[in-house]
Amino acid sequence: MFNRVAVSGLGGILRPTIHRTWKPLPCSVCLAKRWSSVCSERKYFITTPIFYVNAQPHIGHLHSALLADASHRFQFLKYKNGLKKTLFSTGTDEHGLKVQQSAANKGVHPLEFCNEISQKFRNLFDAANIGYTHYVRTVEERHVNAVHHFFQTIVDRGHIYQGAYSGWYCISDEAYLTDVQVKEITLQSGIKQFISIESGHPVEWNSEENYMFRLSGFQEDLKYWLKDDCRVQPKRFLEELRKWLEDDLKDLSVSRPKDRVSWGISVPNDENHNIYVWVDALVNYLTVAGFPNLTSWPPDVQVLGKDILRFHGIYWPALLMAADLEPPNKLLCHSHWTVDGQKMSKSIGNIVCPYNCIEAYSSDGLRYFLLREGTPHSDNNWSDVRVARLLNAELANSLGNLLNRCTAPSLNPSQEFPSLNLQYLQNMSAAGKELIELVHNLPKEVENHYDNFNFYRAVDVIMTVVHSANNFVQEEKPWELKTLTDRTKLDSILRITLETVRVVGIALLPITPILANKLLNSIGVMQQNRYWECIENVFSKANEKYLSSSFKLGSRTKLFTKLKV
Ligand code: MSP
Repeated sequence: MFNRVAVSGLGGILRPTIHRTWKPLPCSVCLAKRWSSVCSERKYFITTPIFYVNAQPHIGHLHSALLADASHRFQFLKYKNGLKKTLFSTGTDEHGLKVQQSAANKGVHPLEFCNEISQKFRNLFDAANIGYTHYVRTVEERHVNAVHHFFQTIVDRGHIYQGAYSGWYCISDEAYLTDVQVKEITLQSGIKQFISIESGHPVEWNSEENYMFRLSGFQEDLKYWLKDDCRVQPKRFLEELRKWLEDDLKDLSVSRPKDRVSWGISVPNDENHNIYVWVDALVNYLTVAGFPNLTSWPPDVQVLGKDILRFHGIYWPALLMAADLEPPNKLLCHSHWTVDGQKMSKSIGNIVCPYNCIEAYSSDGLRYFLLREGTPHSDNNWSDVRVARLLNAELANSLGNLLNRCTAPSLNPSQEFPSLNLQYLQNMSAAGKELIELVHNLPKEVENHYDNFNFYRAVDVIMTVVHSANNFVQEEKPWELKTLTDRTKLDSILRITLETVRVVGIALLPITPILANKLLNSIGVMQQNRYWECIENVFSKANEKYLSSSFKLGSRTKLFTKLKV
């Protein structure tokens, strides 16, 4: 294939020297370590990508937002009142050719079109308990101002020049692609068509005058930024970025002529060009932080899907460096949801609608499945049957039964918290010893998984404890302990099981907030005792205060209604 991508600099500005004030963190510095010291002004700044309004929300979008939400919730749990400020941003990406065309097809003004879909994303996040603190839309005035200011800053710092650009343009991905990123296919109709190899979307050849960003000048800075092994998680995505940086970076076209893309933000002092939608979109992270009067910067974590890794792992840090701003501390990149092994797409008609799922499985049911099954490093397959089976087995049966067993009036007629007999604890069965050890280890292990965004592993640890507790009850057969002399043993069994339920309830708060709170309410754990520190050193004297002695058990809470399979 011939190489038709040509970039010629017309601006004639000398390549600027980069004056760098941002200081990369040493390799060992990851979030958990940075925060381990006692610090009264702890903050947390996490972002999701902003979502395109040209399509209806689906479970893949929700997955991006859920990862950020679970992490944000965990910070509250862990740092209690020590967390002074958090910023959790999400929103919608509303400019560009795709939106312009979709609105035109519907015969409505682009803003009207955007208002409707942006609200749908907001409604979905509210329905799924995504506790964002900031919602940003790229059509807002504060964002337009931030984008203008940002663009002018990089112009003033000498990183922009005007150039003639030719290349394959992919409207769906809103990106120029090089020859190696496209291939020719023959459609069923016999017509030949070039498509993006990565996304499969059609591309078309374009030549235009553009403003160009000197991305090529940041190659070494980017390599340096990516030296930190904690910078991008999981490791395979960090490696992918490092590999891309082995080839020479090309400068990036950062504007579009208005006669082609009219729905966008103008280049400052040029009425004929709009700013490239990806530059516009990326600046949303600065908008929410108050740019140009930044209150928090940089973000601690930015969550994104694997399809937008290049934008966040190369273009974004380089743009920030050009503006003399610190790049993000960490990127969390996740893989995608497929349906029956296929990519979700409107044309195939296999989009999984999150609203229908919330109706069928409840918001916590959907949250549980997505976080339990969603492994960031590899794609995951959605199947309705699998959802129902998993939720029935783990939430309705294992966890629901455990709660019912330890609160049942038949075993505990007084409905009070029984006490733990130390002698019993010392002479426990193998099943009991195993449970005690697992519960002891849970906080450290789950904390580690939460800190590393491995929510699926955190749930795995929690469920292992639940299974072990059910096994313990099964082996000890408390229903056979009927005599007065059996009472001490019975009380101890119930106490251990109740403590386990308390630990599990607190540990599940970031994953299934409604269900976990229901669980904790049903055993009377007060609001002020729902923090991480309350599950450390379980079964110790000091921990007795977390189970209120005046609380009457036995409200017979139905934790999760079984689904029809
Ligand atoms: N608007 C851009 C992002 C700009 S951020 C400055 C965009 N929007 S998107 O709506 O297409 O995608 C938003 C997020 O949803 C991305 O993280 C993307 O990876 C994620 N997902 C889209 N489809 C997905 C799946 N099938 N599965 C999981 N996540 C998916 O890109």
